[in-house]
Amino acid sequence: MPTPAYVPPETMEVLFSRDQLAQRVRAIGQQISADYAGRPIVLIGVLKGAAIFLSDLARSITVDNTFDFVAVSSYGRAKVSSGQVKLIKDIDNSIEDKHVILVEDILDTGLTLSYLRQLMLQHKPASLKIATCLDKPDRRLVPIEADYVGFKIPNHFVIGYGMDFAERYRGVEDIRIFPEIPAGH
Ligand code: IMP
Repeated sequence: MPTPAYVPPETMEVLFSRDQLAQRVRAIGQQISADYAGRPIVLIGVLKGAAIFLSDLARSITVDNTFDFVAVSSYGRAKVSSGQVKLIKDIDNSIEDKHVILVEDILDTGLTLSYLRQLMLQHKPASLKIATCLDKPDRRLVPIEADYVGFKIPNHFVIGYGMDFAERYRGVEDIRIFPEIPAGH
């Protein structure tokens, strides 16, 4: 497939500014710190989209925490309803008996997090919760909800703050609306 034309991010509408994001992520960090007071947590980020959200979130959490990453590939998202998700990088350290929070950039159809939640439960964590920066509830194909949500949004395709279109724009500081909904989404 040819590389799509580059759209300069500064031409795209800002959905959440860097200040709004910083404020909301700090609030989630405080909530998590209160909920887990006295209990160490393992944050597990889903590469690559969640890397920036996780790095800000980890720095807003005041209880003992470590972090790890998983990576998944999904194919034919638009054509399937059964969750064609494959693990391509597993966790490095055991999470048995640990309090785990899966950290994702966007909860969209729910296929990725449903798959990862089942997989992580097989490792027998003491508890398992989900934190997502954005939630698009209208797009859900499987029933799953996050415990910590930055912002609920309608069905926009967004980029920035870790999120990409064709691997671009992850470093854009604000979350912006991509001018078209990509094919297959
Ligand atoms: P799900 O399995 O459909 O819930 O997919 C979640 C993944 O789809 C996210 O982690 C993103 O990688 C990707 N995704 C969904 N919506 C968007 C978007 O608006 N912008 C960028 N990536 C998205």
